[in-house]
Amino acid sequence: MRKIRKIILAYSGGLDTSVILCWLKEKYGAEVITYTANLGQSQSLDFIKEKAEKTGAAKAYMEDLREEFCRKYVLPALQAGALYEGKYPLATALGRPLIAKGLVDLAEKEGAQAIAHGCSGKGNDQVRFEVTARALNPEIIILAPLREWELNSREEEIRYARARSIPVEVSEESPYSFDRNLWGVSIECGILEDAWQEPPAGAFQITRPPQKAPDEPTYLEIELEEGVPSKLNGKTYPLVNLIEELNRIGGINGIGRIDMVENRVVGIKSREIYEAPAAVILHCAHRELEKLILDRETLHFKPIIAQKYSELVYNGLWYSPLRKALDGFIYQTQKMMSGQVKLKLHKGNCQVVGRRSPYSLYDRDLATYTKESTFNQKAAPGFIRIWGLPLKTMGKMRKK
Ligand code: ARG
Repeated sequence: MRKIRKIILAYSGGLDTSVILCWLKEKYGAEVITYTANLGQSQSLDFIKEKAEKTGAAKAYMEDLREEFCRKYVLPALQAGALYEGKYPLATALGRPLIAKGLVDLAEKEGAQAIAHGCSGKGNDQVRFEVTARALNPEIIILAPLREWELNSREEEIRYARARSIPVEVSEESPYSFDRNLWGVSIECGILEDAWQEPPAGAFQITRPPQKAPDEPTYLEIELEEGVPSKLNGKTYPLVNLIEELNRIGGINGIGRIDMVENRVVGIKSREIYEAPAAVILHCAHRELEKLILDRETLHFKPIIAQKYSELVYNGLWYSPLRKALDGFIYQTQKMMSGQVKLKLHKGNCQVVGRRSPYSLYDRDLATYTKESTFNQKAAPGFIRIWGLPLKTMGKMRKK
């Protein structure tokens, strides 16, 4: 193995990655440079650089990737309709390849031999980081201290940290593990590991409990242009801000709480909860517009793509040729995806109550039951005879 002199560490400012910072320096005698990507995990990231330096980082990088995250990762997944196992909008899963890319780019710039992350050996995130990093730089050394070190519990980590005067915040005593970005919050551990127990109120970060949401519904009008959400209630927003705003409004209305048991890449079933108000609202709006605009064959085929797309993202295969190829298909389907959707948010429910588009295939003259109808009902009997011919033939055979 090459001598490791410089390591780029994916750093969140939390307990794990702070302890890892010290541990790597002690174990490898290497210089550790921290890398933190802002994907919209919280309002205040200012403390992170300072904390990294205090904890012994040679340098601390902070990169605002919110725009790139939304445009290049969240948007394609939205347009694909990608929901893992039908529910999870993939916030964490979409963030990992982008962070991994940031780590590899920085390693190349800094001449570092290795990158390091704070993922455990049981989760998906280690897979996503490492598959991506190796796809982008097959030579890079990847260190995952959590998988190999001797610290076996949170308490031991806290003891380790205190012994080296790493600041430990009280908030870090939460029983849950959180991962947050603009597309949602992922929550696990603690009582949530009991799949029978309802998630306690304290597990949620950005949504109100539906019963405490306003009694009056909130109406939203969302406009999409070529598959890109562009306006909210008539006002233009950059995608990042639109998502932030929908998280806020959706959160107040108790939208986007997801409770599921899912299949991890490593073969474990795990109980996870999510909060993704903007993702739930935008998937709802986008899906509705597709129902209006896409022809039946494309519309019915698209969920097959969505299923595969969600698996690729979840399984850490963002940088795969198949994902790129599917993007080509999705791109084709989005060219006419412009229009407006009216939504009603009320106590945890997000309901579509109206939709319109210049590209709508909904033709009221055809659909109407009034005398204005242009649909030729006389053509129906012949169609039905031929459509039903196989079953009629079978019916005759059975009778014999
Ligand atoms: N189960 C989700 C996923 O695989 C969430 C993972 C949360 N990650 C974390 N480090 N807490 O994408």
